[in-house]
Amino acid sequence: MELLKDKKPISHYFIVTGLILLFSTLSFGVIGALQYVYAGLFRENFSFEKIRPLHVSSAVFWILITACGAVIFYLGKVKDGIWSSKLAKWQWILFTISVVAILISYIMGIFGGREYWEFHPIFALPIVIAWILFLINVLKTVKVFRKQPVYVWMWLTGTIFFLFTYAESYLWLIPYFRSNIVHDMTIQWKSYGSMVGCWNMLIYGSSIYLMDKIAGSEKYSYSSIAFALYFLGLFNLMFNWGHHIYTLPAPKYIQYISYGVSMTELLLLGRIIYFWKSSVDTAKRHYHILSYRFLLAADLWIFLTLILAIAMSIPAINIYTHGTHITVAHTMGATIGINTFLLLSLVCNIFNVHQPKTEKNITLGLNISLIALPIFWISLIIAGVLKSDWQMHHFNDIPFSAMMQSLHPYFVVFLIAGILLTIGFFIIVGSLLAVFFKKQINA
Ligand code: HEM
Repeated sequence: MELLKDKKPISHYFIVTGLILLFSTLSFGVIGALQYVYAGLFRENFSFEKIRPLHVSSAVFWILITACGAVIFYLGKVKDGIWSSKLAKWQWILFTISVVAILISYIMGIFGGREYWEFHPIFALPIVIAWILFLINVLKTVKVFRKQPVYVWMWLTGTIFFLFTYAESYLWLIPYFRSNIVHDMTIQWKSYGSMVGCWNMLIYGSSIYLMDKIAGSEKYSYSSIAFALYFLGLFNLMFNWGHHIYTLPAPKYIQYISYGVSMTELLLLGRIIYFWKSSVDTAKRHYHILSYRFLLAADLWIFLTLILAIAMSIPAINIYTHGTHITVAHTMGATIGINTFLLLSLVCNIFNVHQPKTEKNITLGLNISLIALPIFWISLIIAGVLKSDWQMHHFNDIPFSAMMQSLHPYFVVFLIAGILLTIGFFIIVGSLLAVFFKKQINA
């Protein structure tokens, strides 16, 4: 609580919590990758079954908490301050206590949830309460809905729908919903797909606000292309889950339509960034160089993710990729290449990073991660292709252990690239935390 006595805005505490979670994501990621290479490493106390949820939950909360911090900060800028800093403070306290408790519970071997939310369902309660506080704050701050720029609509939509989809992801607690496996899995994957759409709304909305700020004009936030993106994002949020359930006996046409929608959303975002780039004059670009570089990195990864996602949306290919490292490559490619780069761009802007040495270090970290990420990603894709070939063609004649042995060289490359990626991000996270703790922020 000592920290809260200094005068930094509450949004910065969300961001610092997020950065610490990014640190923990990377640390557990390296241990998980080591366990890929040295099977059974730390089996006694930190088996892969513990490390994976520690890594994935840290990643999910890094994204969610930082996205909330960015929305609180930018909404405050748009509307002359957030409605209630006190409410935001309570939201932050609830989030922080829940996440710490969740990570400790994993270490103690207490689970009880489902994939991606593997913590005991009791912890969902404070998270829901925190989100309701966030929702009240966002609604009260926005006040009127007429003539709002697109990013305000994106923040509103992401906030409202997250509450709905998060609650939906816990319907399995009710016997009626979990009694039918197909319905149960359909609801689960539908809610996960929509939840990603919700946090994307928060992050993309903040990115569009930042792009406007850098360009010095509100042109894009009121443009028809930005609103087209918004409506497609909304469809995406509601229907993009179809590709998650290709292997379930659900109507195929729903899956095709939904995946088509999610693809166009990414294309449009790439389009907006592309046009924005060409419209900003060079001097302005250089002033905000750090945020701009992260936006460019995200732009590149939107297109790479898009290529992989389109391939995975083809049912004949999807059958092969299902349950392989290609899915992991897709998830990590999106959460690192798009979400993390965009969030870091926002953090650099919000923390107003301007010291040349800090800028230099963060740029170095970004460059290292830009070299490592494609190697990391491709090694997973190759391992996935080999595994899927085994699943489809050699399941009966080659034992699982022999197949895993053949993937070993790719796991070694994955580990080395992952360590490099971690070094790059550590430099960035360390520099940003130093900016915060050395009180170099002029908010
Ligand atoms: C910003 C950084 C990162 C984020 C946001 C992130 C996110 C994720 C997510 C969402 C998953 C779940 C994938 C799925 O089940 O489809 C995952 C899995 C995993 N990640 Fe990361 N990750 C990051 C960095 C790393 C790094 C640097 C490493 C290794 C050095 C790593 C190693 C792993 C491993 C081993 C898994 C488990 C895959 C499996 O279940 O087989 N991650 N990560």
